[in-house]
Amino acid sequence: MRVILLGPPGAGKGTQAQFITEKFGIPQISTGDMLRAAVKAESELGLKVKEVMASGGLVSDDIIIALVKERITQEDCVNGFLFDGFPRTIPQAEALQAAGVKIDFVLEIAVEDQEIVTRMSGRRTHEGSGRTYHVLYNPPKVEGKDDLTGEDLIQREDDKEDTVRNRLNVYHEQTKPLVAFYSELEGDDAPRYARINGVGSVDEITHRVLEALQG
Ligand code: AP5
Ligand code: ZN
Repeated sequence: MRVILLGPPGAGKGTQAQFITEKFGIPQISTGDMLRAAVKAESELGLKVKEVMASGGLVSDDIIIALVKERITQEDCVNGFLFDGFPRTIPQAEALQAAGVKIDFVLEIAVEDQEIVTRMSGRRTHEGSGRTYHVLYNPPKVEGKDDLTGEDLIQREDDKEDTVRNRLNVYHEQTKPLVAFYSELEGDDAPRYARINGVGSVDEITHRVLEALQG
């Protein structure tokens, strides 16, 4: 099964990805997590993308497309995968089509901008795995520590309010057009499209997501 999770920053893509990948035994491919790992490792790629990520802008399509194409040829992707944060522009979606990658489901997690700013300020992240928590809405078992490893949680650099607003603008301008792109695709190869209300408890959203994938 090949799934795309679409939605604004902070919609809960990463949070829901954890449940879907576990349930269906497919890997999560988060371009954001991959880029953050590269920045942390100070690799050539990391040095190239560090600034644009910190500002909340998008990394160039060429870099992203190459990264994803390489990733989906790996062995763990034979039974499918879940894209989280990709594609994010029309050229990225077109590159996927041109490569003949058939997508089964596109799930849009819809959340209004005001709610997003609140969510981001309380987000805490486990750097090693990308697991996310929220100080109020989805707290870890022990404050400040990852549930599985017990390691410290951090606050992402791009979660400052100004940067969040910039990321939201970028979403509306460059990523939102994918909603029309995917929901209007027709034919046997077209993915099933579902819009999911992303407001509610994490469990409620998981329930809606699973319904869309199984119903
Ligand atoms: P990326 O890592 O993809 O960031 P994003 O899309 O901005 O999404 P987030 O990770 O911020 O949000 P999320 O939807 O995963 O929400 P989460 O589950 O964490 O990208 C980062 C950067 O990398 C980009 O800005 C860009 O520079 C670059 N990049 C990445 N991919 C790219 C691409 N394809 N092309 C170009 N550039 C690219 O949840 C958020 C918070 O809310 C958490 O605290 C969570 O606990 C909480 N929460 C979750 N669900 C709920 C709920 N139901 N109720 C209340 N709180 C909730
Ligand atoms: Zn995420």
